Amino acid sequence: MSVNPFSVLAESVPSIFIQGFVLVMVALVVIGTLVDIIHKKNVKYFFNNAKKAKLSATRELGMGERVSVITKTVVHDIATTAELGAGKRRVAHVLGMYGTILFWIASVVMIFCYVTKDTTTPTIWPMMWHVGAIMTCVGGYWFWLFLRVDVLAEAYPWYRIIKADLFVLALLSCATFGLAWSYTQSLNLENRWDDKVFLTLYIVSNIVLFGGVYWSKFAHMFYKPGAAIQKNLAEADGSRDNLPPLADAPKQFGLGIKREQPKHY
Ligand code: HEM
Repeated sequence: MSVNPFSVLAESVPSIFIQGFVLVMVALVVIGTLVDIIHKKNVKYFFNNAKKAKLSATRELGMGERVSVITKTVVHDIATTAELGAGKRRVAHVLGMYGTILFWIASVVMIFCYVTKDTTTPTIWPMMWHVGAIMTCVGGYWFWLFLRVDVLAEAYPWYRIIKADLFVLALLSCATFGLAWSYTQSLNLENRWDDKVFLTLYIVSNIVLFGGVYWSKFAHMFYKPGAAIQKNLAEADGSRDNLPPLADAPKQFGLGIKREQPKHY
């Protein structure tokens, strides 16, 4: 876990190829997100809706208030995925989200700063990369095998795969094959096939993850924070996205709601 797998790889592959691969992946995310925005018109809708809602605002927010609402949203809603409520779903998401962030940051630092022969990688970066991949696997497999709505509520078997699983499965493949590649590479198998197979699978998973942005749920990591900020600003200026205020009355769902979790409907 303390070895930078990319610096070992750079002994046989020019580091410029590895760095070029990362830049191509970043470009794929930008292109995929832009095409998604143009095709779905979601951002256009989002801004039109925000403009319309502003007309029914009951008060004007000052700069300080806006900054305070945005900061609270970032710290609470976005950093802890508050919309998932308390429970397993949120814990699994937070594990996967921070795991992926650690994995990506460590990848970029190790690939761009520590792949040349004359540099030694500080142990913190490969540690962060491996721990990030493990956290992604724990959160991601937990979600995919047990918490996914198809499995938990609709009783489909865990191995039924649909297009909506593209993002989570590509993310899990990257973390899983990345770990398997790093492990087999560390065994020094003297030109055996193992690490090359896992490296190939790791590369393919990355191409699917970053190249599949248009078809997958990848871009939710950009849209969700934007939507959370807009929702909280609309709450603070009284426009409430043109929704009626909460009723000033106790919630009554009847006793049925306590009987069973919404499963197998
Ligand atoms: C690096 C950042 C992130 C990663 C890697 C990530 C990963 C994931 C994954 C793998 C899923 C499951 C997708 C599926 O339904 O198949 C998911 C769902 C979700 N994400 Fe994220 N996410 C990130 C950022 C965010 C942020 C910033 C928010 C909100 C502010 C968010 C909110 C959600 C919500 C509400 C769901 C639906 C969860 C459910 O159905 O249980 N995510 N995310």
